[in-house]
Amino acid sequence: MPKNVSLTRYLIEQQRADGLIPGQLRLLLEVVARACKSISQAVTKGALGNVLGSAESENVQGEVQKKLDIIANEVLIEANEWGGHLAAMASEEMDSIYVVPNRYPQGEYLLLFDPLDGSSNIDVNVSIGTIFSVLKKPEGSPGVQESDFLQAGSKQVAAGYCIYGPQTTLVLTVGSGVAMFTLDREQGSFMLTQEDIQIPADTKEFAVNMSNMRHWDAPVKRYIDECLAGKDGPRGKDFNMRWIASMVADVHRILMRGGVFLYPWDKREPEKAGKLRLMYEANPMSWLVEQAGGAATNGRQRILDLEPTKLHERVAVVLGSKNEVGRLTGYHEPL
Ligand code: AHG
Ligand code: MN
Ligand code: MN
Repeated sequence: MPKNVSLTRYLIEQQRADGLIPGQLRLLLEVVARACKSISQAVTKGALGNVLGSAESENVQGEVQKKLDIIANEVLIEANEWGGHLAAMASEEMDSIYVVPNRYPQGEYLLLFDPLDGSSNIDVNVSIGTIFSVLKKPEGSPGVQESDFLQAGSKQVAAGYCIYGPQTTLVLTVGSGVAMFTLDREQGSFMLTQEDIQIPADTKEFAVNMSNMRHWDAPVKRYIDECLAGKDGPRGKDFNMRWIASMVADVHRILMRGGVFLYPWDKREPEKAGKLRLMYEANPMSWLVEQAGGAATNGRQRILDLEPTKLHERVAVVLGSKNEVGRLTGYHEPL
């Protein structure tokens, strides 16, 4: 891997090499990265910056918002609205889409984000992150509406996340593999620290919120029971478990050393397909995982093939090491 490659240089070289990144998309990704830097600053200050605790408001999904959920959302909007690269944005923290105001030029891209993933970890100083997904506005449609966003994950043109952990790290795909950039705080730039990330096809590690076990469906119970049976069970090997409760951090670990992540449908709220949101959590993470050689399904179908019907749609998620995702998906009855 070449030394001292900044995110800017990486994007310019990608643009030159295979034309995967048009100029406007490059600008967009640089702006998202800049916003993440600023969120990272706020996260690092914690109580000193008065950014911890609840904002005492609720988002459209009925979740209590933390101060940082709102701060991160505002940082992303303010950074992205004026550059001329976007037509509109959508976020976990906004009921409906945010169209770029008339006073700014309108671009051809749509940006979706989970501004702060892992909100329950903010106040306990555990890794959290920002997840983003970029789509192109369908051609020929005048103005911009919510229906323009309702595209399958396979249509994404860029996706990534920034994790605010012991290091601040940006992980990105534009469809030619997965690259990782670590924030150099002295220089203020993201530097390329890993290229062509690959998830091993097999694993001995799963990530799931075990406290929900009694609410799961039979195929998920079977899969986890078999993992728990270890060496003496049908899998013939011992499994380890991790659950950070920040999807960003669990997926990051899987990209670094393999594993399988599950947030399945459960009986607590049977009318919801799952807890995680398709468009700004599952889709970008699924594309990153596939680009790293892994797989992602909702138990039956490839997540990237799902046609969204609404912005805040939820979905069951199984992603990570290919053979484990294949096994659990195989335990489900086909549709
Ligand atoms: P968010 O903080 O954006 O609402 O997302 C939280 C999500 C996800 O990051 C994590 O995997 C999961 O919720 C944790 O759920 P539990 O609290 O059920 O463990
Ligand atoms: Mn989230
Ligand atoms: Mn969130």
